[in-house]
Amino acid sequence: MGVSNEEFRAAMSRLAAGVVLVTAHEPPLDPDDPNAPGGEDVGMTATAFLSVSLDPPLVMVSLREGSRMDDLLAEQPLWAVSVLSESQRHVAGRFAMKGRISDRLLFDDIPYVRGDTSGAPLVGGALATLECRTEQTVTAGDHTLVIGRVLTAELPSADGGPLMYFKGRYRQLG
Ligand SMILES: Cc1cc2nc3c(=O)[nH]c(=O)nc-3n(C[C@H](O)[C@H](O)[C@H](O)COP(=O)(O)O)c2cc1C
Repeated sequence: MGVSNEEFRAAMSRLAAGVVLVTAHEPPLDPDDPNAPGGEDVGMTATAFLSVSLDPPLVMVSLREGSRMDDLLAEQPLWAVSVLSESQRHVAGRFAMKGRISDRLLFDDIPYVRGDTSGAPLVGGALATLECRTEQTVTAGDHTLVIGRVLTAELPSADGGPLMYFKGRYRQLG
């Protein structure tokens, strides 16, 4: 009985998934001081993202406990999701790098708008963008399930194909 990490990973790698960028704006350490550290935009590539409920509109993302986004969403209830298109593989790669200290430069050459509701970056050219407010979190093994109410939903670039992840590689449909 029981399954090894390798067996589990291999099985789950056969589940083709769309790729999203989860983003949030870090609250400044001192909100009264515009030069205080913090206050930067943070992004994380994710495939463990799904639609949960229609009424009310809820989505969920699963974050590795102790990841930067997990730590950030513990204090920032507003976040956003950009559903990446097939032409945004470089965005996914960039925001999946481990052990980053700062994301400050990572958004520099990526077109984005700041969500009015969340203050989080919404990636230009994404197939869809959603702004969310955390409703509930559930600790599940070594991950945190973050359930968010969808506050806004837009289709910046509704016509492109999706960026997918399957058997450990980025793919395009077709
Ligand atoms: C295709 C792909 C999908 C990923 N999906 C998730 C996910 O759903 N949840 C998660 O916590 N990490 C996921 N990751 C890993 C994070 O992107 C990565 O750990 C993080 O950006 C690095 O920051 P950290 O050092 O704070 O973990 C994924 C990585 C890749 C390449």
